[in-house]
Amino acid sequence: MNLDFAQLRRWPDVEAENLQAVDAADRLLLDLAAEAGWPAEPGRVAILNDRYGALTLGALAAGVRGIRVHQDALSGAQAIAANTQRLLPERAGEYRALPLGAALLENATLVLIQLPRSLDALEEMLAFVAEHGAPEVTVMATGRIKHMGLGMNEVMGRYFGSVTASLGRQKSRVLTASSVHPAEQRPSARFPLHNSVQVGLDKPLELRAFAETFGGAKLDPGTRFLLENLDLPGSARRAVDLGCGNGTIATFMALKHPALSIHASDQSASAVASTSATAIANGVAERVTPVQDDALASLPDASEQLVVLNPPFHMGNTVHAGIALKLIADAGRVLAPGGELWCVWNSHLGYRSQLEKLVGPTRQVARNPKFTLTVSTRAQPRG
Ligand SMILES: C[S@@+](CC[C@H](N)C(=O)[O-])C[C@H]1O[C@@H](n2cnc3c(N)ncnc32)[C@H](O)[C@@H]1O
Repeated sequence: MNLDFAQLRRWPDVEAENLQAVDAADRLLLDLAAEAGWPAEPGRVAILNDRYGALTLGALAAGVRGIRVHQDALSGAQAIAANTQRLLPERAGEYRALPLGAALLENATLVLIQLPRSLDALEEMLAFVAEHGAPEVTVMATGRIKHMGLGMNEVMGRYFGSVTASLGRQKSRVLTASSVHPAEQRPSARFPLHNSVQVGLDKPLELRAFAETFGGAKLDPGTRFLLENLDLPGSARRAVDLGCGNGTIATFMALKHPALSIHASDQSASAVASTSATAIANGVAERVTPVQDDALASLPDASEQLVVLNPPFHMGNTVHAGIALKLIADAGRVLAPGGELWCVWNSHLGYRSQLEKLVGPTRQVARNPKFTLTVSTRAQPRG
């Protein structure tokens, strides 16, 4: 079956002339996997970090069946689904999306990886592959040479006895790993990462983070400033942590306000798992509900009284204010009249006029040379 890769789209992620849904690293990996021979038996191939579906659709087009796929970003998972429906609808039943875990990798003999930037993220994937894959599992991991370093071979060598690199092609290379080390020779489990921080509560806040989570298990400095100055109404019964990351804000609020329930949303599957692990570690899991969502898409208009947000201002390597403004706008949408958005931001970004426009009257709660914390009150129902 032929697949025209030029037809792949990044949607619903940002699309632009200079942004591609597929690159030479995807093509090299698919060619090398075909050369080595795809597993004939269905259900033996898993694909990790396939940004927009190039690897998944390539494997589907090659006739591979029962493919399991994991992509951390919700937009990426949606792009894979949309591309499959549009370009290979008759094959769509041959792949399914799963969280990073046992069901994704059990009995897999071939695991394809689009190499992540972070070594921790790679190590987390390999640890799951080593634990749950078939004993004869082979990993083929592809990337752009400029983004690859010897640290990647070293991480692979912690889990596999054989690690080889392909020749470069179009500035891309594939690392192939096989002969998985027995469990006792593998590093002890590192994930979720653990941290313990003092944030003015009776006891330290325990943080947990899986590898793809923003900032890992660290306390973000903007978040620290937010927590120091967050003053929620005592009558509050429900709050939203938008872009929950490792769950610091949701868990802090749950510990500080024993009657509060928190809806915590993030587009990253890893962040959702981290928030869940952080809430469990602090004994508040029954009041923190982590949800993978694009902003607050699963919440109705004018339904909430409190949203707390530390928005992202970096997307990969590019400064991307668009995402922060999108989150602020969605907070404005879900807030009921009189509801409040507590938002911390880097002072130089000057979000105040946008907060006024997208939510309502905005007052400064605190400011230091780096950060500003504001509270914006939803004024009127939209006409
Ligand atoms: C600056 S981090 C804050 C994380 C966490 N609240 C903290 O305080 O450490 C911003 C978070 O927004 C999340 N995010 C980015 N785009 C999003 C979207 N469209 N919907 C939901 N969350 C998003 C990121 O994954 C990241 O976890």
